[in-house]
Parts: sequence; structure tokens; C-alpha cells
Amino acid sequence: MLDWIKTGSKCVSIASVDVGEEPKLRRAPHDEEEVRDKHNQRGGHLLVTLEPLDQWAAFVVLSLPSMESSLPRRVHTVLQVFSTGFSFSINIITLSVTSRKEKMTKCYPTVSEEYQKAVEKAKRKLRGFIAEKNCAPLMLRLAWHSAGTFDVKTKTGGPFGTMKQPAELAHAANNGLDIAVRLLEPIKEQFPILSYADFYQLAGVVAVEITGGPEVPFHPGREDKPHPPPEGRLPDATKGSDHLRQVFGVQMGLSDQDIVALSGGHTLGRCHKERSGFEGPWTTNPLIFDNSYFTELLSGEKEGLLQLPTDKVLLSDPAFRPLVDKYAADEDAFFADYAEAHLKLSELGFADA
Ligand code: HEM
Repeated sequence: MLDWIKTGSKCVSIASVDVGEEPKLRRAPHDEEEVRDKHNQRGGHLLVTLEPLDQWAAFVVLSLPSMESSLPRRVHTVLQVFSTGFSFSINIITLSVTSRKEKMTKCYPTVSEEYQKAVEKAKRKLRGFIAEKNCAPLMLRLAWHSAGTFDVKTKTGGPFGTMKQPAELAHAANNGLDIAVRLLEPIKEQFPILSYADFYQLAGVVAVEITGGPEVPFHPGREDKPHPPPEGRLPDATKGSDHLRQVFGVQMGLSDQDIVALSGGHTLGRCHKERSGFEGPWTTNPLIFDNSYFTELLSGEKEGLLQLPTDKVLLSDPAFRPLVDKYAADEDAFFADYAEAHLKLSELGFADA
């Protein structure tokens, strides 16, 4: 069904139909790049113009939450709306596919008023606590390592509170996160109603907010899962862009833009020799969330600062580099993309429609 769908702003595919008939879709002679599978698209918008007697009659934007299943029916519905006795041909002139990687349709659970109140209060407590302990970087890393194990294919792993289990804390990538879990426990005890899943993600959102970063929306309702994910799903800092795309793209279902924006999380914190084998911060102000990760990356290696191989790869990869340049030049753009990517990360496997 989707083989005729193409991206682009010009005429990409044509469906011809006579009023009263089922729409017959056919490949346009000027088909462009195939985007199915590659982007795993799932929803989006079609701008459809109806063309009676060689004149544009009207256009309509079709929202397609799930193209694969709803496209024929909806196209037919539109035809009926515009059926006035003429013979129409339909030109699908613009298609902006919102891929699964770019936008997930979410269906958030409703939580009780008591739960919502606990979220608000826990948020206030976390603000004070994280500021007092200067532990925002560790909290962000906790939230990210909790969520980043999600695997889209098996729907296992992800931000579901398993990080508190000794088995997951023992994963090499999580060295040092036992400290975060231990630090948070006295606050978590005050909110038994909250899931660990929500609580750890809330801590990540608060860490970004109180260090001057963007406000990342938070939706409660994650349930704790019993089983931790297998070891080996988080990225290896010594590898290249293929590896980042494998982990973030194929495994987690995130985009190139998400990879670069989320890497900007290294604006906070530092590497600790005894935890990861690396040593040093990425920026001169590791307790401030700003775009200095990108400006430092562009200005080259400096004594006292660190760039991991996976950070440097953002400079050499042709798709990543323009985003580094953009975020270094425009902090607002970074904050907007970061907030979107962090939200997606924090909701991997949660509230999927
Ligand atoms: C792109 C792949 C990534 C790799 C390979 C990577 C690797 C690392 C490594 C090796 C450390 C040092 C840990 C230590 O020694 O304490 C670290 C720390 C950190 N990472 Fe990442 N990371 C990645 C992505 C991210 C993302 C997506 C975020 C959040 C959005 C993030 C947030 C942090 C923070 C805040 C720290 C500092 C922790 C602290 O100061 O205790 N990282 N990362």
C-alpha cells in the first residue's frame, strides 16, 4: 500500500479516480526516493488537491494516524466530500510523512488525583534535593540509562524502574548509578504511591530544569516492570556513528536529530576514571545546562576538557555535523530539539497508542 508514498514538496504521486469509483492509486512517473521501511513511517499528513477540469478546486489535509491501515478509506472519504458530479483526478502533491521515529502517537493513562499530587510534590522535593547535592548530572544519567535500554522490536527494557535492581546496576555501563539510586531512596520513600519508573524519569526532567535547561514535559503513569533488560544495550563510547544509529535508531527508534540533541546532555557532568575509564568534563560549567557542549565540540580539544569518540563522531558524520553547527549557534534551537528528544526518550515503550 505504501509503495507509492514519497516525501518531498512537489508532486510525488498521483491517484486518478472517477467520482463514484473506488480510488485507484498508481505510481507517478516521477517517483522519487522510496521512504517506506527506511523511515518506518506510521502517520503523517497528505495534502491532496482535487483537480476538476484542469483547475485546482480545493485541497484538504488528511491526517493519517496510521497510514498503512487508514489510507484507502480516508482518501475515499475525501472523494465523497468533494463529489459534485465532475470527474476528478486527485493529485497528491505534498506528503509530509511523520515517521515513527519522529512522532509516536501517545495515549497517556489517567492517574488518580492523589497520584498527580504526589508527582507535583515529589517534583518540588527533587528540585531542592538535586540542587542541594549538586547531583543533576548523575540524575540525568540515571534517567537516560533507565530509558535507553528500550528495544522497539521486543518492547523490552526502557524507563520502567528496573534500574534499582542489583542485576541492572551491575551492568558495566551503569557504574556509579548505584549512588543515584541510593541518593534518591529517602525521597522515594516519602512517595510510596509513585512507581520507580515515573520517579527516576521525573528526577531526570528536574535535573535538566534546575540547571537552566529546557522544561521537558512529564506524563505520569509508567508501571514498574519486574525484569531488567539484558546487558549491552547502552552505547559504547569508543565506537562510531554506525553504532550510535544502531543503538538510538534501530534499537530505541529515535532519529539522527535525537542522537545529536541528546548528546548535548553531556553539557552536564563529567566522566570518572573509576566508573567509565574516561576522565573529565565536557564543558567548563558542568552544572549548567546550556549549549556549551556544542561550542566546545567545535572549538577542538582543550586541556582539562574531554571529548569521547562518540562525541567527536558528531563532527565527522555528514548528517550529524549540521545539527552540531546549528545547536552551537542557536541555543534556543538546541533546547527545543533537546526537550523533544528527552521527552521521547523518557517515554520509550510508555503510552504507545
Ligand atoms: C551518545 C551516546 C553516549 C555515550 C557513549 C555516553 C557515554 C558516557 C560516559 C562514558 C560517561 C561517563 C560516566 C562516568 O564516568 O561517570 C557519561 C556521562 C554522562 N552522560 Fe553520557 N553517553 C551518551 C549519551 C548520553 C545521553 C543521551 C545523555 C542524556 C541525555 C547523557 C548524559 C550523561 C551525563 C549527564 C553524564 C555525566 C554523569 C556524571 O557527571 O556523573 N549521555 N556518558
